[in-house]
Amino acid sequence: MTGKFVTFEGIDGAGKSSHISWFVESLAAKGISVVSSREPGGTLLGEKLREIILNDEMEPATEALLAFAARQENIATKIKPALRDGQWVVCDRFTDSTFAYQGYGRGFSIEKLEMLENWVHADLQPTFTIIFDCDPAVAAQRLADSRVADKFERQSLEFFVRVRDGYLARASRQPERYAIINSNQPINVVRAALAPLLVQLASGEGKADVA
Ligand code: TYD
Repeated sequence: MTGKFVTFEGIDGAGKSSHISWFVESLAAKGISVVSSREPGGTLLGEKLREIILNDEMEPATEALLAFAARQENIATKIKPALRDGQWVVCDRFTDSTFAYQGYGRGFSIEKLEMLENWVHADLQPTFTIIFDCDPAVAAQRLADSRVADKFERQSLEFFVRVRDGYLARASRQPERYAIINSNQPINVVRAALAPLLVQLASGEGKADVA
């Protein structure tokens, strides 16, 4: 596979979404052909599963299985074909979210999540993952100011403290695959941290050291 697979992660309210479209547009402006996706979702079936995952109460195991079911479709029908075609794929959330939310947040078995990860995509990991790291209290305030909360966004501060810890734990196991951007800062400061990363990824170099 010749394209690059870049994923964006962070707790709800970290501000990730506002940076993804800028990132995708900037790649396109450099002449790079990019496919955007998101999880849960990204495909027709995946978007139906997203509605269920985000709105229905269920067991943590069920949440994890549905997230991986949606992911299976996304990988097989969208991500891999694009990468094989030499395109880049930028995905709003991927498996790190399942470890952070269902594993650390909900307390579902990390071991079983690793089994699912190996089953569904042993042969595929993101080339690079950008984590928007945010204090859960700051993120909660942003969400309260902005919109009606979904099932996850209604979770407690403690839940998001665990989710954040989950992201940082995943990143510490494989630091070369991640950049952690401090997103407590205003959007323009976060953007300034993201910009050199984009340049380095697009030029084929390793990751930048970002604050
Ligand atoms: P999000 O990506 O933040 O979209 P929006 O900005 O439109 O709300 O929402 C997706 C939610 O799904 C988020 O709360 C995290 C959750 N999620 C999981 O719990 N497990 C997963 O595996 C994935 C991909 C997402």
